[in-house]
Amino acid sequence: MRFYPLEKLINLHDAYSRQFKIDNLQLLLLQRDGELYLIEGRCPHRGHPLDVATLQDGIIQCALHHYQFAIADGHLLHATEERCRGLRTFRVIYEGNEVGVMLEE
Ligand code: FES
Repeated sequence: MRFYPLEKLINLHDAYSRQFKIDNLQLLLLQRDGELYLIEGRCPHRGHPLDVATLQDGIIQCALHHYQFAIADGHLLHATEERCRGLRTFRVIYEGNEVGVMLEE
């Protein structure tokens, strides 16, 4: 496992949202109500980018077919077509003055 730094703590604030790419993995780092969330950056349904999704009350809704996922655990909450897997979520790691993620090398 290796630590990949993503953002400096000083840059985080509520409504923060930023996409990161680590090799082939797209990640989306979000802060809402003081909580940081790190989720995969593409919708598990058909891969639409989630940085243009709407996020309210801990639920992210993809802009394409309006599937909804809980950002805390990635659980699929609402599907308008066939069901799909849940959203991958990642633990945010604090290291020094940065946040990041631990990933397999
Ligand atoms: S691609 Fe996101 S809901 Fe279909």
